[in-house]
Amino acid sequence: MQAEPGFTGVDLDEYRSYNPSHNITTIRADKELAGLAAHKDFGKNWAEFATLIILSKFRGQGLGKRLWQETLHQLSYKNIFVISANPIVKNRMALSDNFRQRTFWQLPRTVQGYFIRQKVRWRNVKELISSRTAPMGEFDFFVKTNHKE
Ligand SMILES: CC(C)(COP(=O)(O)OP(=O)(O)OC[C@H]1O[C@@H](n2cnc3c(N)ncnc32)[C@H](O)[C@@H]1OP(=O)(O)O)[C@@H](O)C(=O)NCCC(=O)NCCS
Repeated sequence: MQAEPGFTGVDLDEYRSYNPSHNITTIRADKELAGLAAHKDFGKNWAEFATLIILSKFRGQGLGKRLWQETLHQLSYKNIFVISANPIVKNRMALSDNFRQRTFWQLPRTVQGYFIRQKVRWRNVKELISSRTAPMGEFDFFVKTNHKE
């Protein structure tokens, strides 16, 4: 889960232009757009929880958690895949909501293939998978299986 390159705020048009296939949920505070969450379907029963962002002035008020839970509710019939480098997402959201942390090599094949296809725009796949001992060091991967694969 991450902000796309160049995405600096909660600008819906900008977000959509980077991510035309994402399903977006927004949250408002003080009549202002305060944040967005987005997911993308893939495979047979899978969705990536792809983005969660709250504008800095609205952080720490429970809005991120509310968007997280609203998105999980929308995905309650799907298997969910999350990548995050943010300890709040890891500890206060994914692990506390019974997601299982996995290394890249422990992920289901459908998810591995999807991940590599997504990252191909940004990096060389060979570089991504060249080391079986310390692959994907900067990301934590999480899955929650609600539906039989
Ligand atoms: C991650 C993010 C969405 C969290 O949103 P938020 O509205 O600030 O989070 P909440 O106020 O709902 O807090 C959620 C939990 O994290 C905890 N938390 C929030 N900010 C924290 C901080 N700075 N340090 C430690 N814990 C924190 C809260 O106490 C809460 O814990 P609880 O559910 O056990 O009570 C927000 O910080 C953000 O947009 N960050 C930048 C974008 C980003 O990194 N997105 C994730 C990409 S991987």
